[in-house]
Amino acid sequence: MDKAMGAPSGAPQLRIDAGRLAARIDALAQVGAIPGGGVCRLALSEEDRAGRDRVVGWMRELGLAVSVDAIGNVVGVRAGLEAGPPVMTGSHIDTVRTGGRYDGNLGVLAGLEVIHSLNDAGIVTRRALAVAFFTNEEGARFNPDMMGSLVYVGGLPLAEALATVGIDGEAVGDCLHRIGYDGTQPCGQPAVHAYVELHVEQGPVLEAEGYTIGAVEGVQGISWTEYTVLGVSNHAGTTPMRLRHDAGYAACAIAHRARQIARELGGDQVATVGSMTLSPNLVNVIANKAVFTVDLRHTDELILQEAERRLQAFVDEIAAAEGVGISARRLARFEPVAFDPASVSLVEATARSMGLSVKRLPSGAGHDAQMLARVCPAAMIFVPSVGGISHNVREFTAPADVEAGANVLLQTLLKLAA
Ligand code: GLV
Ligand code: MN
Ligand code: MN
Repeated sequence: MDKAMGAPSGAPQLRIDAGRLAARIDALAQVGAIPGGGVCRLALSEEDRAGRDRVVGWMRELGLAVSVDAIGNVVGVRAGLEAGPPVMTGSHIDTVRTGGRYDGNLGVLAGLEVIHSLNDAGIVTRRALAVAFFTNEEGARFNPDMMGSLVYVGGLPLAEALATVGIDGEAVGDCLHRIGYDGTQPCGQPAVHAYVELHVEQGPVLEAEGYTIGAVEGVQGISWTEYTVLGVSNHAGTTPMRLRHDAGYAACAIAHRARQIARELGGDQVATVGSMTLSPNLVNVIANKAVFTVDLRHTDELILQEAERRLQAFVDEIAAAEGVGISARRLARFEPVAFDPASVSLVEATARSMGLSVKRLPSGAGHDAQMLARVCPAAMIFVPSVGGISHNVREFTAPADVEAGANVLLQTLLKLAA
């Protein structure tokens, strides 16, 4: 019997070491630590460099063959009995500015823990295994999100990605070079046989309904737009309301309308204005400029398009009514993604066979797996987020759930690699 298929019936199944995984999660969370237990490792920052160095060090200790590609994606490969494309797992280690310690990091470190467990058990899988972390998944500094995995699958030209300027005016290519992760591996190498990613749910469903594991069926569509409103600055006390061209007011009206639209469409429609800057940003000066972002998401592409249409109609209306100019810049636009049904079923069946409760659900957040799904069968495993809290320093997943998710990842990878 192939040792990778698991122990003979009656013998205990191989398990990951939960303490060792928790220790790596804790150690990585020290890099860029912020008050409250959270992490700030914006993509391609000095903190990201330090986090990358730490994870690459662990990859090397575990005997992985590490490559870095031209957009800074890092892949560690563990050879199998046969040559050929690896079964890949992974995620990202960049965070939002006010991030938690699980988002992305869990998927990468659980992947390393799987490798560590296989090394300890002396198991060599038939297919090679790979653990990857992809550049700038968050999109908090550079748009679009999932940038590294998008380049990996050929969905964004490398030159365009490298030229992308972030919120602080720096370009991806310059930052990559500065932190020493402008690698030589051609993007998209190695080719991938199958991809499975463990991630925290980042939403409230699994916890509220009492499930341990989510078998993720797909990822909702994402529409990110930056609007710039140009009005006229004037004295806040002397300018009659009817004579204003107030960029701040127009921006806030659009933010309000975005939320109304989400309510009107109902169901899974969400809308967020997460960033807004007014100029000159003073108490007694009407703003002449507002720059803000709108994040719209839905699992149904047609409904998402309807949300975009309704918002654009209002943007035109308020621009005329207030006498301001409004321009839009698309930051990211991804249609909803359905994961490979056989891979989703494999995750579900694997978790059930381990006695774990499983719910099929869509992902509200974007993930690298949605990009890998363009080139290979892909799936995701979710574990509960306490209180549904994420992109917040309070993000937390119970140790028992982390352990369960990592064990489901281990067994799923073993099946895919057998
Ligand atoms: C990425 O984390 C996103 O879904 O915003
Ligand atoms: Mn993530
Ligand atoms: Mn995130």
